[in-house]
Amino acid sequence: MRIDIISVVPKLLESPFAHSIMKRAQDKGLLEVHCHDLRAYTPYKQGQVDDYQFGGGAGMVIMPEPLAILIDKLQAEHSYAAIIFMTPDGKTFNQSMANRLSLGGDLMILCGHYKGIDQRIREKYITLELSVGDYVLSGGELAAAIVVDAIGRLIPGVLNDETSALSDSFQDNLLAPPVYTRPADFRGMKVPQELMSGNHKLIDEWRYNQSLQRTKERRPDLLD
Ligand code: ADE
Repeated sequence: MRIDIISVVPKLLESPFAHSIMKRAQDKGLLEVHCHDLRAYTPYKQGQVDDYQFGGGAGMVIMPEPLAILIDKLQAEHSYAAIIFMTPDGKTFNQSMANRLSLGGDLMILCGHYKGIDQRIREKYITLELSVGDYVLSGGELAAAIVVDAIGRLIPGVLNDETSALSDSFQDNLLAPPVYTRPADFRGMKVPQELMSGNHKLIDEWRYNQSLQRTKERRPDLLD
């Protein structure tokens, strides 16, 4: 999968994809992440990409021209399953969207900044508007990193143990069960005996019941 990300602060996107599973996905050739600096595409002087909003009010707005130039260039070179805009007024991103997007083809992601981007770009190009939660970030970059990470780890072949994504929280609308590692006795706190039993049926049952209990306590909305 190829993901093109458009940003006015592309440096914010350097670290999230340079380590751990996202790095491995790229090293294996399963994921390509290309970050584009919007300032390099502006027709205006001194790399200007934003301007005051019509009607007045605090906060700058990213101008349509640089965005259209870069999006047109990318669309002429590749085709995209979705052109996504990261914005707090978008649909709240969740695991089922991550699953769908991980199987759907290449993606372009626009990161907003300041007050956002000119509405005409949203109307002309954007096919999906995503929020990562009901709070406002300084820009869309960290939100885009979350979306790319959640999608990237689901691309077939990225995780070593194919089943490990299937047992994640949310994958079947249940939170994940508790996990333990060595030592079996940590300062008097013991690992549940079911996990030490070697009986896989018993272990699976214990995990399922723990998942259900956790979900009931913490996220009853998921069970509706
Ligand atoms: N940009 C600023 N806040 C955001 C959020 N919560 N989700 C997505 N993009 C954003």
